[in-house]
Amino acid sequence: MSGEQTIRVLIDQQTIAARVTALAGEIKAAKLQNLLVIAVLKGSFMFAADLLRALHELGVDLQAEFIHISSYGTGTVSSGRLNVLKDIDSPVEGRDILLVDDILESGRTLAFAKDLFVARGAKNVQLCVLLEKPGHRAVQIEANYVGFKCPDLFVVGYGMDVAHSFRQLPFVGVVETKG
Ligand code: IMP
Ligand code: MG
Repeated sequence: MSGEQTIRVLIDQQTIAARVTALAGEIKAAKLQNLLVIAVLKGSFMFAADLLRALHELGVDLQAEFIHISSYGTGTVSSGRLNVLKDIDSPVEGRDILLVDDILESGRTLAFAKDLFVARGAKNVQLCVLLEKPGHRAVQIEANYVGFKCPDLFVVGYGMDVAHSFRQLPFVGVVETKG
């Protein structure tokens, strides 16, 4: 490894904030009942935190939970193997569920999570993602709420990482190595 790493901003903080507020409005309009929002760790943590506060601002009643599903290890290529590293603690039977994730790419993660909660008796499972990446869908699944269409680049920031680096950035960017 050599060369200096810089991050090129793809989606800035203000643009994200405005979109998160708009997404919360879309979700409110869906009038979900007995709503349990489940953030898919780890990449969604910052998006979920902002989205939950935006939903609160709009007076949407909800509970929040977390599930940790692993799909990538520390690399940047999907392994296709999924497992639940940390499950939610709440029953989901009869509830409306909103799954929140950072990126919809192959769709495997969210299809796996959706199937899990449907199997547990959730009434309705909707999907909200910050970013949707084209071209890599392995299973047929669409998100109900999409923040932004993302170019086919490996992105970091706003919760998303390369080997746990860059999660703290308040914007979405692309790692560029010079030299
Ligand atoms: P899927 O199962 O292929 O849809 O995987 C989506 C998951 O892969 C996301 O929740 C991210 O954790 C991870 N991922 C996919 N693309 C990127 C990226 O460009 N940057 C960081 N994480 C990514
Ligand atoms: Mg993820």
